[in-house]
Amino acid sequence: MADVILGIETSCDETAAAVVARATEVRSSVVASQIDRHARYGGVVPEIASRAHVELLTPVVAEALVSAGLPDDGVEAVAATAGPGLVGSLLVGVSAAKAFALVWDVPFVAVNHLEGHLYAAFLEEPDLELPVVVLLVSGGHTLLVHMEDHGRYRLLGSTIDDAAGEAFDKVARFLGLGYPGGPVIDRIAAEGDPDAIAFPRAMLDRGYDFSFSGLKTAVVNHVRRHPEVDTADVAASFQEAVVDVLVTKARRAARDVGAKGLVLGGGVAANSVLRARWVEAAEADGVRPFVPSRAMCTDDAAMIAAAGWWRLRSDGPSGLGTGATPNLRLPLAG
Ligand code: KG4
Ligand code: ZN
Repeated sequence: MADVILGIETSCDETAAAVVARATEVRSSVVASQIDRHARYGGVVPEIASRAHVELLTPVVAEALVSAGLPDDGVEAVAATAGPGLVGSLLVGVSAAKAFALVWDVPFVAVNHLEGHLYAAFLEEPDLELPVVVLLVSGGHTLLVHMEDHGRYRLLGSTIDDAAGEAFDKVARFLGLGYPGGPVIDRIAAEGDPDAIAFPRAMLDRGYDFSFSGLKTAVVNHVRRHPEVDTADVAASFQEAVVDVLVTKARRAARDVGAKGLVLGGGVAANSVLRARWVEAAEADGVRPFVPSRAMCTDDAAMIAAAGWWRLRSDGPSGLGTGATPNLRLPLAG
C-alpha cells in the first residue's frame, strides 16, 4: 500500500508540490505563487500561467522532496491535479507526474482539484467526523457539498453565474482596488458600515444554488448613482451580502442533511467576516465548525496528495493515458 505520496498542483496560478503520508501527515508543502506575473493584467493569463508552471515545477518538486527528507526511493505514488482548471497549466503537472511515476516505477493517480479542497480540512483536522457539509468558495467555484463518507459526495448547490471569489474580484476591479480583490475588500470593509447599503441577497430562501452576478450589477448601479458614496461602506455592504447568503444556505443544508460538521474551504475562506460568521452559525446550531488556517485557504499540493491517497485506495492507479480535463466534475455518489 502506497502511503507516502508526492502531490502536484498546477491547475491555475500556483505551482505546488507536497509530500504527504497517509493523507494526514504533511512532510513538506511548497507553493510558488505566480500572482505577481498576472496582477498587472487584472486576472490570470492562461499562457503566462502554463509557461510559469514549466519554469517553476522542477525546482518546486525538488524542494518538496528535499525538505521532506525522504530517502531516494521514498515516494510511493505520485498524484497530480487532472482538472478542473486551465488546460495548459493542468497538462504541465499531469505530464510531470506521469514522468516521475514512470521513472520511479510507482503508481500515478489523477486527482480532481475539487476533491482536493474537500480533503484540505482533514489535513488540519484528521478526526473530523462525517457526514459534513462543505462550502467551497474560490475564484472559480462556489459549491455546497454533502460529504457523506470518504469519496462519497452529493452536490447540494453551486453558483448559476459568478463564483463568490469572482464576485469579490469583479467588484474590486470596478472600485479600482486591484487584483486579487478579496483581500483588499476584506481589509477596506473593516472600516465601513455593513448595513450602509441594502444590497440584494439573491435566492436567499430558495434552494442551495447561488447567484452573485445581480449583486455585482447592484454595486455598479449604486456607485454610478451615488458617486460620492464611501468605498468602505460599499465594500462592507457588498461583503455582508455575500457572507449572509453563503452562511444562511450552508447552515440550512447542514440542518437538512443532519451533518455533524460545517466545513469551509477555498480562497474566499480567508475572508475574516465569513470565518467569524461560520463559527458563530455552527456553534449556534450545535454542529462542529471547521475553518482552515489562512495558509490552507489557497491552493496547495498537500490537499492533492491527501485526496490522491484516498482515490488510490478506492480506485487504484490511473492509467498513464490519463490527460487533463479542464471542466472535470466532482465525482458524485449515484
Ligand atoms: O482558491 P483560490 O486561491 O484560487 C482559485 O482556485 O480560484 O481563491 C482565490 C479567490 C480570489 O477570487 C480572491 O479574491 C479570493 O479567493 N479571496 C478572498 C479573500 N482572500 C482571497 N475573498 C474574500 N476575502 C478574502 N480575504
Ligand atoms: Zn482551488
